[in-house]
Amino acid sequence: MEIIIQPDKAAAVDLTARIVDRRIREKPKFVLGLATGRTMEPVYAELVRRHREEGLDFSQVHTFNLDEYVGLPPEHDQSYRYFMNQQLFDHINIPPANTRLPDGMATDIPAECAAFEAEIAALGGVDLQLLGIGSDGHIGFNEPMSAIRSRTRIKTLTRETVEQNGPLFGDPGLMPKHALTMGVGTILESEQCLMLVTGAGKADIVAEALEGPISSMVTASALQLHPRTVVILDEAAAAKLTRSDYYRWTYDNKPAWQRLD
Ligand code: F6R
Repeated sequence: MEIIIQPDKAAAVDLTARIVDRRIREKPKFVLGLATGRTMEPVYAELVRRHREEGLDFSQVHTFNLDEYVGLPPEHDQSYRYFMNQQLFDHINIPPANTRLPDGMATDIPAECAAFEAEIAALGGVDLQLLGIGSDGHIGFNEPMSAIRSRTRIKTLTRETVEQNGPLFGDPGLMPKHALTMGVGTILESEQCLMLVTGAGKADIVAEALEGPISSMVTASALQLHPRTVVILDEAAAAKLTRSDYYRWTYDNKPAWQRLD
């Protein structure tokens, strides 16, 4: 795992977008794993800018989103399909058919989850998976006690997640209590994982996930098992790490050919 600490949120967002940009230019038929959430909004804005102003081409890119609420139609303004269309897909040249989220309206949920996994496999797997972290340590909607080998499936959301996202629904009681999510095992099969975390509110859970034991109670900790995970933090999110000097030293002394940006 590589931990890169940036001076502020803008720099962390910019580095994340630069890495995505570079990887897509290197391999135009790219399979990009996406996350929703507030952390990702400025990343998508920057990718849109790079598409418009710098010719970043999404015409051959395929995307797979981590998760979707159960029971929200695509036109619901809190569905993750709606979020992705608004934040990214409607502003770039990606063919809509190349964008895939789990279908939270599916009547046969196990069949939908199996189809989602099969589509990832048919494209040769995810090249780069973007991730955020929830206040309960989740990646995707892999809430505490999600098996480290879990696959795409339905999960019941924790009270903490409902508290984190509920306000976005106006009345938190309207937020679905279930979601379809890629499993931790599915995420770990991506060729590379890139987790972005910003803000002081995530500092405790970041330290627990990155420097604590690998545990299904904090599913982001499973990224310690992944040989090519990069975590980009701003100073505020990195504040509780005990070895941040070491991470800075490693990054500052990284050979030029190994740098991602
Ligand atoms: C969303 C997702 C979640 C979020 C996490 C952080 O697709 O997978 O794991 O990344 O809940 O959300 P924000 O960025 O809103 O703090």
